[in-house]
Amino acid sequence: MSTVLIIGTTGTVGGLVLEEALRRDLDVRALVRDKKRASGLSDAVELVEGDLGDRDAVRAALAGTRAALYVSPHEANEVELARIFGEEAERSGTRLVFGGFHIPDPAERAAAARAIPAYEAKLRLAASLADSSTRPVMVNLPNFAQNDEIFREDILGGTFPTPLHPDGVNRVDLRDAAEVITTALADPDFPAGSYKVVGPESLSGEQSARIWAEELGRPVRYTGDDPNWREALAARLSGRKLEDWIRSFELLGSMPLPTDPADVEATTELLGHAPRSFRDYVHHTATHWH
Ligand SMILES: NC(=O)c1ccc[n+]([C@@H]2O[C@H](COP(=O)([O-])OP(=O)(O)OC[C@H]3O[C@@H](n4cnc5c(N)ncnc54)[C@H](OP(=O)(O)O)[C@@H]3O)[C@@H](O)[C@H]2O)c1
Repeated sequence: MSTVLIIGTTGTVGGLVLEEALRRDLDVRALVRDKKRASGLSDAVELVEGDLGDRDAVRAALAGTRAALYVSPHEANEVELARIFGEEAERSGTRLVFGGFHIPDPAERAAAARAIPAYEAKLRLAASLADSSTRPVMVNLPNFAQNDEIFREDILGGTFPTPLHPDGVNRVDLRDAAEVITTALADPDFPAGSYKVVGPESLSGEQSARIWAEELGRPVRYTGDDPNWREALAARLSGRKLEDWIRSFELLGSMPLPTDPADVEATTELLGHAPRSFRDYVHHTATHWH
């Protein structure tokens, strides 16, 4: 029972959790839709092919695992996919670790769902996983710094295209989230519950662009306030993921996401170090891009 299951390893959150789990020498199994797309993954990973909508495949992937990461994919039936995964995790006695959007307080969650109807399904599926009998660890994440990598060509070409409110949006480096999630996957004594993992500061689109410009040593102009910003996203994304991102950035452009010092302190305690700054993330990424 020492194996941990990670889903979404060809994506952003799952990919970084996989890296961290391998760094810590965990026995890792990955559920992938297409082994060919997962060909870049380390040989140390046991691959199980299947779709989250296929209950038999999910059951086979969870068999004999001690813990599993669940990230809700950009799929129209994401509530149903989470239900299947939660039920099968309960059946196999696997602890569930969730990374994504979750508001634990029912009254706050209901208010958020009323204010942002597009997020109602996401909030509902996370709440149902939190209610499962899997001793779940729910890791709630703000805006990902790693989103910017989708726009590598734009940024290198001199524009930063995603809207972020002038009063700032908290941006988390997912390497920090991956550390906390991997600890929860590895440690059976990690207390069940809901945790926020945040970045140390809130940044506007202008500030984010300036940091990219400084670290790359070339001009990067914020264009998230251009009325045509959706076209920049459509050039890099498609389908349901594009729809989800447009909705998210409509929100992040119109509403700040402030940084609560208590959340930064709690994140520091979980990590055992201060959360990485956005500049640290950009410096690291720009070095790879060079
Ligand atoms: N971006 C943000 O700033 C942000 C902030 C907070 C929360 N979130 C939440 O984070 C989640 C997205 O995480 P992410 O960025 O890591 O996603 P992502 O990069 O789009 O990766 C999605 C992963 O899920 C896999 N997948 C998709 N549909 C599947 C299916 N039916 N069966 C099995 N695997 C499937 C994909 O595999 P394939 O290779 O087969 O496609 C991919 O590995 C969303 O729920 C979002 O709301 C995002």
